[in-house]
Amino acid sequence: MQAIVLAAGKSTRMKSALSKLTFNLLGKRVVDYVYQAVSGLGTEKTVFVLGPHNFELELPPQVLRARQEQPLGTGHAVLCALQSGCLSKGEILILPGDIPLITADSLKIFVDCHRREQADLSVLSTELPDAGSYGRIIRDKNGFHSIVEARDATDRQKKIREINTGIYLISLELLLQVIDRIGTDNAQHEFYLTDIVNLCRKERKKACAFNLPDSADFIGVNTPLELAEALRELKIRKNLQLSASGVIVLDPDTTYVDWDVQIGTGTVIMPGTVISGDTVIGEYNQIGPYTQIQSSRIGNRNQVQFSIVNGSVVSSDCQVGPFAHIRPGSRLEDTCKVGNFVELKKTRFSPGVKASHLSYIGDADVGVDTNIGAGTITCNYDGIRKNETKIGEHAFIGSNSSLVAPVTIGAHAYVGAGSVITKDVPPYALGLGREKQVNIEDWVRKKEKAKD
Ligand code: UD1
Ligand code: CA
Repeated sequence: MQAIVLAAGKSTRMKSALSKLTFNLLGKRVVDYVYQAVSGLGTEKTVFVLGPHNFELELPPQVLRARQEQPLGTGHAVLCALQSGCLSKGEILILPGDIPLITADSLKIFVDCHRREQADLSVLSTELPDAGSYGRIIRDKNGFHSIVEARDATDRQKKIREINTGIYLISLELLLQVIDRIGTDNAQHEFYLTDIVNLCRKERKKACAFNLPDSADFIGVNTPLELAEALRELKIRKNLQLSASGVIVLDPDTTYVDWDVQIGTGTVIMPGTVISGDTVIGEYNQIGPYTQIQSSRIGNRNQVQFSIVNGSVVSSDCQVGPFAHIRPGSRLEDTCKVGNFVELKKTRFSPGVKASHLSYIGDADVGVDTNIGAGTITCNYDGIRKNETKIGEHAFIGSNSSLVAPVTIGAHAYVGAGSVITKDVPPYALGLGREKQVNIEDWVRKKEKAKD
């Protein structure tokens, strides 16, 4: 089996300079989903037809490329694939590059139908409640007759709900026989691939349309609205997959998990949660509500609520949030706490470290069981470079302290509240960097007296 993926179109209806094939749906491009389904069939060759605007599209190295200089229509795109000379004799599956919901299973069923019926040309069709701009499948008393594009259809034909999914199976030999005869006598003056149905029939070849039920699989994304519909469907599929594997997705409507994200059993995903990128989450966590986790590793039994974790590691039994921001390069070992309005950047917390309130800790390494008081700031940036703060184990940083980096606070050391620490604090020492308090006795009384 070989495949041709048509991907040279201009995405005009997207009203965007970007090719619709590169739009991101749950962490993968539209075109990646299509390739995933095609390669799931075990095709030995896949040719992508690309235009000058996207010829360099990032694709797996084994994919072959054919160039269509101008988008003269789907028939012309297939002609370009044939002219590239990279296809061999035998069966060719043709499909559009803009159907991200397609699955290998649906394609397999279609290929089986084609082989069982010994068809010469097969078209995959499906029924939609609203056939919109799709080509209509025309059947008469002799069976499958032709495909009529919505723009060329009569009012009666427009009412037909069986549509062309744009997926075809045909041999290279037959394709070569008919492809040159496609004309442009239609509303768009394009070379329509759909014309091969008539042309095959004229050759007395057996053309079949196989009407498959899983219509969602075949949705094309031509407009921003259709893209949103595809996203909704993919989101449902991913959340169903997660639920089936023992993840508790409490509100599938508001939970967005990227296609390749892995989550362990017993983890509860609360409403409003977005989990994306290269993320792996372990078991029995509570993630959310209203949390964003991006390209991170989360171990087991953590609670992450109303927070953002990006490019970081949260080991096990940690508490993050509400309203914590863990920025790239951070690592929480087990049993850490990062509480409300705490921001970490490129910071490692050893086991048991707590920063419970209102802190910025950047470029820091913090030892076991150290407590970071409310309002602690690492002054890591001197206007030119980022400097490191090292805090040893079992240290205690009093509230509202500024640690001016580079600086080291020794193990078991204390920093008095409100200090500005510019020099290292040795282990077991108390660092104080603030004005001594002065009490002026009877100050209020004297002031009142002065008023009289
Ligand atoms: C096409 C079919 C329609 C079908 C629908 C299913 C034709 C004439 N119509 O319509 O019957 O119901 O798909 O989704 O085939 N492309 C090229 N080069 C071109 C034109 C298009 O490579 O010159 C590619 C596009 O990038 C796209 C695919 O072919 O991936 C389909 O083209 P598109 O313009 O989306 O066709 P539809 O109008 O959706
Ligand atoms: Ca389309």
